[in-house]
Amino acid sequence: MAKIAFIGVGKIGQTIAYSIIMDGLASEAMIYDVIPELPDKFEHELRHALATRGLNTEILSSNNIQDVNGADVVVITAGKPRKPGMSRRDLFVDNAKIMMGLAKDLVPRNPGAKYVMVTNPVDMMASVFMNYSKAFTISTGDQVETMRMRSFIAKKLKTPVTKVNGFVGGEHGEDAVVLWSTVSVDGKPFDQLGLKREEVDQYVKGIAAEIIRVMGGTTWGPATIIKDVVRSIVLNENRVMSIATPHKVDNDYIHIAVPTVVGNVIGPSIEGTLPEEEKEKLNQALRDVHRVYKENMAQLVGTT
Ligand SMILES: NC(=O)c1ccc[n+]([C@@H]2O[C@H](COP(=O)([O-])OP(=O)(O)OC[C@H]3O[C@@H](n4cnc5c(N)ncnc54)[C@H](O)[C@@H]3O)[C@@H](O)[C@H]2O)c1
Repeated sequence: MAKIAFIGVGKIGQTIAYSIIMDGLASEAMIYDVIPELPDKFEHELRHALATRGLNTEILSSNNIQDVNGADVVVITAGKPRKPGMSRRDLFVDNAKIMMGLAKDLVPRNPGAKYVMVTNPVDMMASVFMNYSKAFTISTGDQVETMRMRSFIAKKLKTPVTKVNGFVGGEHGEDAVVLWSTVSVDGKPFDQLGLKREEVDQYVKGIAAEIIRVMGGTTWGPATIIKDVVRSIVLNENRVMSIATPHKVDNDYIHIAVPTVVGNVIGPSIEGTLPEEEKEKLNQALRDVHRVYKENMAQLVGTT
């Protein structure tokens, strides 16, 4: 069990923290947000829930970032969510400013932590945080798309989801890359399943916007998936998950998702086993994310 810090406890941050704490994955939980009293009142709620479970998790809540010390894992959800009609990339400038501040404030007090970025655009925010702090950072990447894809195929084929394998990689969001060579059901490759690539692609990339339109944000799916990423780190489960890890491009760390072993140590990835065509798509995603990262950073520097 680990000391886990939650930076930002809005819609998704609360759900992630709740799932992790109720699964007993945290020996100590630290809850931080800039909204006055929010961490404190959320702490009360969590304590009530812990009481009925008989769990003795230590909880500290604060509006002071200096109280976040000595974490093993830091989960960052602080920042703006997108509104209907927005793309994740539209959030870059506002949320990057927050990441630069957090990089400065968090890393000196939590030097050995693994930083798990959730704030969107999630891969680019992981890059901003890591480039400014030099602390090893992952983003939750396309593990969310991976589970959206598996759930869609399972429902379409009326088959248990445990029989569906496969991953989505690249950038989280509309430009994600389905790694078709990895997709199979009960050992049958995708092309023998009687499904069209377009329908899977459309669902994987489009369902989040539909959920945001009706429910105001995505919560339960990503929170459970992100809890499992943290679980795999904390319990050293070594699950293969499509998280985004840093790749060095010129002088920058740039994050894109590739199915990767997630445990106490992050890696290796399965990139080497993919066909050339899919490797090239991931390289293209890396170049694309780097270009957008540079353009947005130039805009950001222009506004500060
Ligand atoms: N990676 C994913 O799969 C995924 C899924 C869902 C949401 N998200 C992203 O997570 C982020 C949060 O979404 P949400 O729906 O919880 O939004 P929200 O508005 O409900 O919560 C955001 C929280 O961040 C806090 N915050 C803002 N600046 C802060 C700072 N400097 N330090 C600490 N806390 C700060 C706010 O006070 C608020 O409580 C968004 O960027 C959203 O797009 C990512």
